[in-house]
Amino acid sequence: MTDTARAALRRREPQCWLNTARTGVPGPGARPDGVASAEARWQRFAPLLAERFPELRESAGRIESPLIESTALAEALGAPGRLFVKADHALPIAGSIKARGAIHEVLEAVEAIASRAGFFGPDDDPRRLLEPAVQRRLAAYRVSVGSTGNLGLGVGIGAAALGLRAEVHMSAEAKAWKKALLRGRGAVVVEHAGDYSEAVAAGRAAAALDPNTHFVDDEHSLSLFNGYATAAARLHRQLDAAGVRVDAAHPLIVYLPCGVGGAPGGISYGLHLAFGAAAHAFFAEPVGSPAFLARLLHPDRPGLSVYDLGLDNATEADGLAVPRASELAYRVVAPLLAGAFTVTDDQLLRDFALAHRVGGLRIEPSAAAGFSGPRWLGSAAGRAWMRRSGFAPHDVTQVVWTTGGLLLPQHELDALLARARAGYGFAFKRITALGRLGQCVKHCS
Ligand SMILES: Cc1ncc(COP(=O)(O)O)c(C=O)c1O
Repeated sequence: MTDTARAALRRREPQCWLNTARTGVPGPGARPDGVASAEARWQRFAPLLAERFPELRESAGRIESPLIESTALAEALGAPGRLFVKADHALPIAGSIKARGAIHEVLEAVEAIASRAGFFGPDDDPRRLLEPAVQRRLAAYRVSVGSTGNLGLGVGIGAAALGLRAEVHMSAEAKAWKKALLRGRGAVVVEHAGDYSEAVAAGRAAAALDPNTHFVDDEHSLSLFNGYATAAARLHRQLDAAGVRVDAAHPLIVYLPCGVGGAPGGISYGLHLAFGAAAHAFFAEPVGSPAFLARLLHPDRPGLSVYDLGLDNATEADGLAVPRASELAYRVVAPLLAGAFTVTDDQLLRDFALAHRVGGLRIEPSAAAGFSGPRWLGSAAGRAWMRRSGFAPHDVTQVVWTTGGLLLPQHELDALLARARAGYGFAFKRITALGRLGQCVKHCS
């Protein structure tokens, strides 16, 4: 089984690998109290966020996305049970799932910097950080990060808005519009000709030379991980509001696009805390950059990169173009995951267009990786897995996590849609988004 999966990985063949070594017990590195203190931090800093970001006024400073039920997408994908989209593509501030980790770590860093320097205490109103005298002091500090794009957007926009200097090291695949947007918000963008790992290493090395720089380390950060993990308890509340029951006989199956593994790893850990063994998380990766699946298939090779397997890390999914998995995420969630699957770029583009046309969703290609999950579950292999697991298809609830897209400029969206239509024979049923929106229910609580 593992040998077959390894061979398929090297041949860039899409596959769904099932984790037969799953124990349901998380590995070392993350703790429930870390997630609880991240949630407490979100609540403590909500007034500051509401004051600083006009788009958060309505939610009183809460960064959250709706949960959308779509019968139209379920039908188009041939998915059993109820199908939901967790719409992190619409998360405010950063326009991606990265807002959860990035803004959390920026808040934790600002809190630590200001407390250490003695101008902020645990009982202070966080809005004090916006006072001109405090802002002048914060301007002496920098937050820096290496990124394929979206983490950089979250950290750069967040840090600059709170008065810190922001430096973002971007890998070669980062889109020009993301760099331009960041520069427009006052962040310094350092462009690298190399890949994501090289951009992270360069950022880490530069930050090590400056005691006033906090480096957001995507390959090792527990603060990012905990920020992402808080999403699961909130999803629990949204599913409750939608009348969804989750227990051993009513499984929750969640599909998460994966790059280095921090975001999907944190969320999977959170799902474990919120739902226990009733949650089944699958990671979704491009066939050219299956960093996490490669690591899962080679448990004895920490630091393994997709290049070591003869792959090129080239993919349309810029956010997922990562050659090496986070060892932190791997350690914690390898025993928890139900499985992982890979997706071709053709399929990503088709699903990006499907999500737009059928679901009315404005996402970027990386965010479409999860849509192959319901399609797999409806296939003979998926149905066999459900039978073996004792799940009746109508008792299953699926969540496709769409992870980025809100800030995608209209001309980029149009160009991608045109490519999807021209290159990939737009062959799915003509269901107009408007005609179906009546069956699309948002759960925003
Ligand atoms: C849109 C999108 N989805 C998913 C991910 C995956 O997150 P991670 O790299 O933490 O696995 C990223 C990462 O940047 C992303 O940009």
